[in-house]
Amino acid sequence: MPSMFNARDADSYEQIMGRWSRRLAPLFVEHAGAAAGERLLEVGCGTGSLTFIMARTVDFAELTAIDYAQVYVDAARARNADPRIRIEQGDAAKLGFPDARFDRALSLLVLHFVADPAGAVAEMRRVVRPGGVVAAAVWDSGGGMTAMRMFWDTAAVLDPAAADTRGRAMSKAVTGPGGLAQLFRAAGLTQVDERSLLVRMEHADFADYWEPLLRGAGGLRARARPSGP
Ligand SMILES: C[S@@+](CC[C@H](N)C(=O)[O-])C[C@H]1O[C@@H](n2cnc3c(N)ncnc32)[C@H](O)[C@@H]1O
Repeated sequence: MPSMFNARDADSYEQIMGRWSRRLAPLFVEHAGAAAGERLLEVGCGTGSLTFIMARTVDFAELTAIDYAQVYVDAARARNADPRIRIEQGDAAKLGFPDARFDRALSLLVLHFVADPAGAVAEMRRVVRPGGVVAAAVWDSGGGMTAMRMFWDTAAVLDPAAADTRGRAMSKAVTGPGGLAQLFRAAGLTQVDERSLLVRMEHADFADYWEPLLRGAGGLRARARPSGP
């Protein structure tokens, strides 16, 4: 299975993660850079947080965005009115584009959900021209994401099975310090620049924090409402 992301409906995604990734996207674009007239690839666009930030802030020639989950591809397409943007279903580890097709490839909060992150980075490198840029961001699940960490730490105290899930979800090599840089260097990328980007979320009240978890995917929803559907 190429994706370890449990994709549910796009509205739930927006509440549980899209509001975070919309805050992160501008910082990521600034770090990844982008110049006028470029051909951009976005890998794992989800519902389009990064896609539509780039549409507003970057004067690119074209942007191709792919995601493994058809439900998100459909939602992002429905939001798109920009003729420079194409949104397609695809697998990060098997990109259906010729070598050196793009100037820049970007991927926001995706590589920790890809079964073969090294293969995905190698593919991004393959489809970017020599001298181009490959950029990716993942959550710092060990040192950051306090809201998620509190949730899983509490669940782990209540249920040993949740401790296993927490261990698997929060200690992936790619999300640790230097994890992305190591992947990039192993793929033959040079001038690798890894740094932290910080976003904060204000919750209006407890429900604003908790209710999206009830609509989240898989283990999250099951732990938030153990007796629910
Ligand atoms: C946390 S979401 C991030 C989505 C979007 N980039 C954002 O920041 O809101 C992770 C995304 O990675 C996608 N994904 C996971 N594995 C993938 C793969 N092998 N190929 C393409 N997309 C993948 C999922 O479908 C999901 O949309």
